[in-house]
Amino acid sequence: MSSLGVLPKQRHFGETTRVDAWWMQPTLVFLGFTSFIVYSTWAAFQGTDPTHCYYWYGGDGANYLSPFYSPTLFGSVPHPGIFGVTPSWWPALLPFSPAFFIMWIPAGFRFTCYYYRGAYYKAFWLDPVNCAVGEARGTYWGERYLPLILQNVHRYFMYLAVIFIAILGRDAWDSLWFGDEGAKHFGVAVGSLVLIVNVVLLAGYTFGCHSLRHLVGGFLDAKSKASACASCYNAVSCLNRKHMLWAWMSLIWVGLTDVYIRLCAMGVLHDFRFFTL
Ligand code: FES
Repeated sequence: MSSLGVLPKQRHFGETTRVDAWWMQPTLVFLGFTSFIVYSTWAAFQGTDPTHCYYWYGGDGANYLSPFYSPTLFGSVPHPGIFGVTPSWWPALLPFSPAFFIMWIPAGFRFTCYYYRGAYYKAFWLDPVNCAVGEARGTYWGERYLPLILQNVHRYFMYLAVIFIAILGRDAWDSLWFGDEGAKHFGVAVGSLVLIVNVVLLAGYTFGCHSLRHLVGGFLDAKSKASACASCYNAVSCLNRKHMLWAWMSLIWVGLTDVYIRLCAMGVLHDFRFFTL
């Protein structure tokens, strides 16, 4: 089979001998992705109003930051970022949200993920619509030519994603400390658990990455000769076996984490505190 050649047309589009509900998975993927993209875009633009800081909850001594806005480089008045508030060099005609500096990294990481590629090629591009189901195109280009060759940037997004796990871990740690600066007390609230579960799920997804597995040992011809690499490789493989599950659980939970913090900041939800020492 030539990679650029014309394939012999075996089935018409959608034609298959499969008797299972093969359309179910791409349909669910389409609905899941679409819902997340719509919500996360909406949430990112909610940060354009500097008087409403619903991506951060600081009520009752808490310190919860939405993962869509972490780390906050340029924040708003209630929650200034590392470099202060809206940068003076930002074009006045463009809306500004702290999320614009952040969300392209996790978005790029997921968009180029090997699992997600397979999922959205089917669900959005119908290319093919599922395994052993007739597809619309008669040619196969693979990912060796523009624009899909750009999917190879995944390994670079992976480097950034690993750094983000450390940052979100710090956010989860911060969520366990309540009170004013200099007089904080350890405690656990629902919001703390939400942020801890968030970073655990994201870590399970990130540390099961195919590119990471290659980096820690997959590049070796005989990893058995490098025991440290072999151990790392096996650990990543362990997570990688359920990569799809980690991908979906972390995607859903990161959205719910933003929802929870947003509703607390808006005063809709009360953050229940289990205890404070
Ligand atoms: S392959 Fe899915 S995160 Fe890298």
